[in-house]
Order: sequence, then structure tokens, then C-alpha cells
Amino acid sequence: MDYLPDNNSRYKEVAYWDERYKTEQCYDWLGSFSKFQHLLEKLIKKEDSILILGCGNSSMSGDLYSAGYHTITNIDYSSICISTMSAKYSSCPGMTWQQMDVRQLSFSDASFDVILEKATLDAIMVDEKTPWEVSPETACFIHQALTEISRCLKPGGLFVSITFAQPFFRKRLYAQVQYNWSIKHQSYGEGFEYFVYVMTKGEKLSPEDAALEQKLREDSKSPPSRATTVHNEDKEDFLSNIDL
Ligand SMILES: C[S@@+](CC[C@H](N)C(=O)[O-])C[C@H]1O[C@@H](n2cnc3c(N)ncnc32)[C@H](O)[C@@H]1O
Repeated sequence: MDYLPDNNSRYKEVAYWDERYKTEQCYDWLGSFSKFQHLLEKLIKKEDSILILGCGNSSMSGDLYSAGYHTITNIDYSSICISTMSAKYSSCPGMTWQQMDVRQLSFSDASFDVILEKATLDAIMVDEKTPWEVSPETACFIHQALTEISRCLKPGGLFVSITFAQPFFRKRLYAQVQYNWSIKHQSYGEGFEYFVYVMTKGEKLSPEDAALEQKLREDSKSPPSRATTVHNEDKEDFLSNIDL
């Protein structure tokens, strides 16, 4: 069955995902757990409480469980996804499933050791015309999600974001002092490279990332520079990198 939408903006719609999850059994965006397991196992302790954002019907939650991580909360805004996945994993104590929007998490402050997302923020940005500067609506959406993620992380907790977006494009969203985290990244994948960003709550941005934030703030106050214009005219279709 073909789940490709007629246009990329549909990836932002819950109706699209509900329809897709009525029939699709399992799909792992950006590769399966085995491709990045070695990276996660260095970051996450078995006893950590983990929140997975936009879990979809990916096998990642079940694979983490099988690898010994038994405190996993999964959220997705698709009710079809949540009811199917909670039935599928009903025999896994400690694994829970809740319908929720990433922009409004119903958890208390400092609830989780690790918050993990794979391709969920990508889906929200998939309709953007350029990766250099997201639209004000998308910037607001992402800011709401990141604010909630930061709020729900324990001090020293990790936000792990797995994406196709290169540092040049993604760091400009994550590098903000107000989220109160540092940023590091690694990559995985053969042929096509995917990125694992690790934000540590309570650590300072590196001088380089703080300078990036400062520069973006200054750029947003002044008319577009020549360099920005050149970037924006680059018609590189970053969306085609999504592995459907
Ligand atoms: C590209 S899929 C990724 C699924 C899964 N994480 C994976 O790696 O295969 C994006 C998922 O995010 C969910 N999603 C999109 N926007 C969301 C939102 N605002 N709140 C919660 N879930 C959302 C969709 O329902 C979908 O399951």
C-alpha cells in the first residue's frame, strides 16, 4: 500500500497519520534500532525513565524494551497509533502509551531522564521551503515543543533527537539559552547519514553554539544579508532526504 501523501504538508496533519495507521503495521523512519543502538546504549542507563515523542508504529520502543529499558512512556497525537501500539505491547509492564501533542505535554516538570524523538520534528518541518529559515508558524510550533521538552527533563537529563537534518540546519533551532541545555551530535548510517543530537539539561551551550544563537538573533533584526539570500535561493530539496 502506498502511504505517500499527495503533498508534504499532510505530514503535519493528524488525519493523515490516523488514516495511515489504520492499515500500516510497522514502519521505522531513518532506519531501525540496530543502526543506532550502539549510540543510545552509551547515553541511556537501563533504569532511566524515557519519554518517546511521536512514537508512531516504529519498533524502536519495543526494541528498547527488549534491550532492557523498561520505563518507557510513548506519546503520539494519533489516537489510532496509540490504541494499536498499546494493544501490541500490552504484555510489557512499564511501557505506557498516551495520546498527546508534543506541544502540550501533560507531565510534571522534571519527569524524565531521557526524552527521545525520531523523525517527529522532521515531520513537522517537512513542508518548509528552505531548511535555512523555517516559517514563523513552524518556528513557533518547534519552540513550543522544545520548551515543553526542556520543562519535562530532569536536571542532567537528555533530549535525544534523531533526524536527517544536518547540524547546519538543525542546530539553529536547538541552540537557545532559554532551553538550558548543551548540544552535541553524532551520526550513523551507510550511504545516507543520519544525525543523533544530544541535548543535556542544565549544561551551557558551547561558545560556538552561543555565538550561533547570537548571530541568528542579530540577523533576525537586520535585513537579509547577501549570504542569507544566496542560501535561500539554494533550491536544495532537503525533504527528498526523508526515507519513506
Ligand atoms: C515521521 S513519523 C515518525 C514515527 C517514529 N518516531 C519513527 O521513528 O518511525 C512522525 C510521527 O510523529 C507524530 N506526530 C506528528 N506531529 C505530532 C505532534 N504535534 N504531537 C505528537 N505526535 C506527532 C505522527 O503521528 C507520527 O507518528
